[in-house]
Amino acid sequence: MTQGFSVEAFQARLRTRYVGRRFLYHERLPSTQDAARQEAEGGALEGTTILADQQTAGRGRLGRQWVSPPGANLYFSVVLRPAAEHLRTLGMIWPMAICQAVGEVTGLPARVKWPNDVLVGPRKLAGVLIDSEFSGDQVDYAIAGIGLNVNLDMSANEEIRDIATSISAELGREVAREEVMATLLHRFEQLYEAARRGQPVHLGWKAHLDILGRPIRVRSGEGVEQGIAEDVEPDGTLILRRPDGSHVRIEAGEVTLKG
Ligand code: BTN
Repeated sequence: MTQGFSVEAFQARLRTRYVGRRFLYHERLPSTQDAARQEAEGGALEGTTILADQQTAGRGRLGRQWVSPPGANLYFSVVLRPAAEHLRTLGMIWPMAICQAVGEVTGLPARVKWPNDVLVGPRKLAGVLIDSEFSGDQVDYAIAGIGLNVNLDMSANEEIRDIATSISAELGREVAREEVMATLLHRFEQLYEAARRGQPVHLGWKAHLDILGRPIRVRSGEGVEQGIAEDVEPDGTLILRRPDGSHVRIEAGEVTLKG
């Protein structure tokens, strides 16, 4: 069963101060990421949020496609204007907010796969894409793009069935996208404001990570590394212990769990 996204139901539930208060809804867009960039270039206020019921050119990290059929999921982008020192923090706050909101609304135990995928069990539930634009060394704006599989029928989406999941597939029933959305924006705003007050966000993020102490393989710009995920630094950098006992710091990459 597919149902349209009700802006009224979402706005009735929204408890934020500014995130999502300016809310632009589209039935179909190529990508909310591009629409949000246009808004940001035009001077949009921080927190401006663009949600599409369907994307025809949804994109993920590393140039991948993001499967975005209508009537099922959340695809949205938020215009943010963080200080430069909070830019990397966004990539920790969003997956944490997703885990917290999914837990609050459904009770499902979502976890973070470094750096910012959200998984339930071994399968991906949500992804986060942060684009940013600088003027000199100041962040002009950041666009946080979130794709969260809410009521996606996994049996109808064979190409991602083995690697992805949805809330409804895990719960065995559909949930209201509007409630998940309103809860998620609220959780995000709380964490973002805490970070701006100087609270050490990475500790909460670290507590949600499912890789620490486990054998992993990481593909990054420098090649492939294998070892034990030993720790993360406050800025999110991963510290991997190689089989020979040496350590390597990895700032960005794609993790595969090995056991
Ligand atoms: C990932 O690869 O894990 C990140 C996925 C990000 C997908 C979202 S859906 C809303 C926004 N618009 C896009 O085109 N991508 C992001």
